[in-house]
Amino acid sequence: MRLLSGKEVADAKLNGIKIECESFVKEMGYAPQLAVILVGENPASQSYVKSKKKACIRLGFAHKDYLLPETTTEKKLLELIDELNQDESVHGILVQMPLPAAIDEQKVIEAIHPDKDVDGFHPINVGRLLAGLDCFVSCTPNGVMSILDYYNIETQGKHAVIIGRSNIVGKPMASLLIQKGRDATVTICHSRTKNLKEITKTADIIIAAIGKADFVTSDMIKEGTVIIDVGINRVADSTRKRGYRVVGDVNFDDCSSKAESITPVPGGVGLMTIAMLMENTMKSAKQHSKKGK
Ligand code: GUN
Repeated sequence: MRLLSGKEVADAKLNGIKIECESFVKEMGYAPQLAVILVGENPASQSYVKSKKKACIRLGFAHKDYLLPETTTEKKLLELIDELNQDESVHGILVQMPLPAAIDEQKVIEAIHPDKDVDGFHPINVGRLLAGLDCFVSCTPNGVMSILDYYNIETQGKHAVIIGRSNIVGKPMASLLIQKGRDATVTICHSRTKNLKEITKTADIIIAAIGKADFVTSDMIKEGTVIIDVGINRVADSTRKRGYRVVGDVNFDDCSSKAESITPVPGGVGLMTIAMLMENTMKSAKQHSKKGK
């Protein structure tokens, strides 16, 4: 079994972006800037937002953080987004999901200008991705593609089974894998899929993004499968200081002996999400600098 280290791939990516950022700053006299908005106090979201800020600092990006109370109204949030859309110094805007129930997430996603939508969630970017056009690609599935590329994992003609149909991962993952040049045969499974095991057993590549701890077990996979685990689940663990541990959607110990290669959790896809966010922000800054000339 080969361990696919998200840490190794993310570090390589971030080191490359840092160099790009240095020459960008030298040429332009300003740094790429990411604005991150968090509404409320969801602990997992707080931790993601902190990691994004740390990545900005590591790369020499500028960043603005907006930590807003749970009671923030949709109107206030939309006003802030509008302000950031107009702010020439901001190249990427990210609103951490999920949002409190009183705020319409889709409305918020569509309020972010597609040119600053470094999450790749705006329907314009989602549509452009499906059409095979240049766009901001959703960070987690883009990170999965980077892992596959880094480890030279062939996708052409391979049966890729995606477990999970979310807008953030499952659907854009399928859009990427079916593009010309990637050429995978893609099946998307979800909570209503019948005979899931029969389908996953035919997979050359499994991408687990269903949000259920240890969901994929060895009886669901064939010998020699490539397993990409997108899950980040907190399960109670009284032996840990924090009171929980983080596990993926794949039962790693059970599947690792049968798999050809597998991503660990933590240390896998999660780190790639942030690296790809930084890549998108760098790309946005470059595109904005060209527009200004
Ligand atoms: N919540 C979980 N993943 C993500 C992500 O990639 N971007 C945003 N904005 N929120 C998330």
